[in-house]
Formats: sequence, C-alpha cells, structure tokens
Amino acid sequence: MKICDTVEEVRSQVKQWKKEGFSVGFVPTMGYLHEGHKSLMEKARQTCDKVVVSIFVNPMQFGPTEDLESYPRDLEKDAKLCETVPVDLIFHPQPEEMYKDGFCSYVDMNGLTTELCGKTRPTHFRGVQTVVLKLFHIVQPDYAFFGQKDAQQLAVIKRMVTDLNVDVKIVGCPIIREEDGLAKSSRNTYLNKEERQAALILSKSLAEGKKLIDAGEKQSAVIKKAIANVIETEPLARIDYVDVVDFDTITPVETLNGSTLVAIAVYIGKTRLIDNIIV
Ligand code: PAF
Repeated sequence: MKICDTVEEVRSQVKQWKKEGFSVGFVPTMGYLHEGHKSLMEKARQTCDKVVVSIFVNPMQFGPTEDLESYPRDLEKDAKLCETVPVDLIFHPQPEEMYKDGFCSYVDMNGLTTELCGKTRPTHFRGVQTVVLKLFHIVQPDYAFFGQKDAQQLAVIKRMVTDLNVDVKIVGCPIIREEDGLAKSSRNTYLNKEERQAALILSKSLAEGKKLIDAGEKQSAVIKKAIANVIETEPLARIDYVDVVDFDTITPVETLNGSTLVAIAVYIGKTRLIDNIIV
C-alpha cells in the first residue's frame, strides 16, 4: 500500500493503473477511520480493481467556531486499518498541497444546502463540494463511495456530479452502527462515558419515528414531534434539528411520499451528532 502526499504522485499512479486497464474506486475521508469507513472501502474493493482512500481534514468545510483544530487524527492507525481491506493507495495531503497560495475558486449550489446541516453550517457544503470535486479531479475514480450517515452530503455530491457532468458513479452505502445502535462517527470519540450513554437517544428516537411510519403515519409534523419528544427525555441532549425532507432535493415534505429522509442533529453536551433513516 502506497501513502502519497502530493497530487503529482497520485496522478502518476492512477495514470499507470488506467493504462493497464484497471478500474479505480475512491473513498474520500477525513481520517480517524472506523468500521463505517471500512465498509465503504470494502464496497470499493468488491466493485473496483484498485482502491484509493483520501485522508484529509479539510479546513474549508469547518466554520470559524467548529472543531478543526481538535478533530481527531491518527495516520498510523488509519493506515493499519486500510491495510486490512486492503487499500492500494492512501492520499494524505497537507492543506498547502490542496490549497495553494491565492486559492479562490469554489463549488457551490443554490438548492440542497439550505436545509438540515446547511442551516447551522452555512459554508460547510461549499467546502465539501470544493474539496470533493478537487479530489475527483486528482484521483479520477470510476466509482466513489459515500456513507448514508451524511445523507445530505450524499445528496449534494450526487447533484453536483450530475450538474457538472463529472464522470464518476456515486455509490451510497448504509449506516454502520455500534451494537447498541449509535451510528459510528469519528466525533463519537469526543463523548465521555455519560454522554456516550446519552447519545443512544438519537437512534432510539429515530426507531420511534420508524415505528410510527411503519404503522402508516404520513404526516411529517406528527413524526417530527414524536422524535423530538423522545430526544427531550434525555437531559444531556439538545436538539439542533429534527426534519423530514425529500432525499433527492433536500426540501421539506409535509406528507411522506417517495424517498424521504428523516434526519436529526442533536448536541450531546458540546458534541453535535447526526443520524437519519430513509423511508
Ligand atoms: O464525509 C467526510 O468525511 C468529508 O465531508 C469528505 C467527504 C471526506 C470531504 O472532506
């Protein structure tokens, strides 16, 4: 497994692979890898001849008061996990390699990014789209794999690829959970023992929403209220949002119909966690 830190090295390796007729699967990450990331890498491994993983904590997608500095990093441990898949190449650039002096070009969109996480993180998706498009240009993958846990991100990337005619197939992969239901996330590491227990309220509340939907409830307002009521039973939890939106357009729906995303963001202490179901 190669670890490259320059765009040039990645380009020349991928060029060689393409010349030899290999397909390339790509998993973009910010590192501190867990079973959720591993499931994306395994899917890439099954789908493609070569697998590239990027590990880059992208400063552009963090707001001024967010956790860029404290975001967990451990390249050695990440590389070990990648070896087990196995991954063929890790791209681990420094910010200066991705954003040269004078950088001033961005990718943005009008729709999809104003609801859910876009409400409290107004510049987040611009940062995500910009870095992901750059990574696509660098890695030139045939397939790219994204987790459904970041469902809005997945919808945004699919839209961007369609709108900008990017020649890559986007594969959405299911949420991987701890045994007790907590969705795997690099940010779970911020939780102390008490908060870790309290964080179970996210998956519990969504299970309550799913139960109502399975029983035939179609009114978003009723589903949202039921989910919020469960979250509010947990003293350490503070709701950022509980929303029901169309999964493709990320616009609010009043009545469930088609592919619908039920998404929540909840602060557990200082840590903001997200989770969702698609129904
Ligand atoms: O989901 C993430 O880890 C990041 O948003 C991504 C897609 C790697 C872009 O920095």
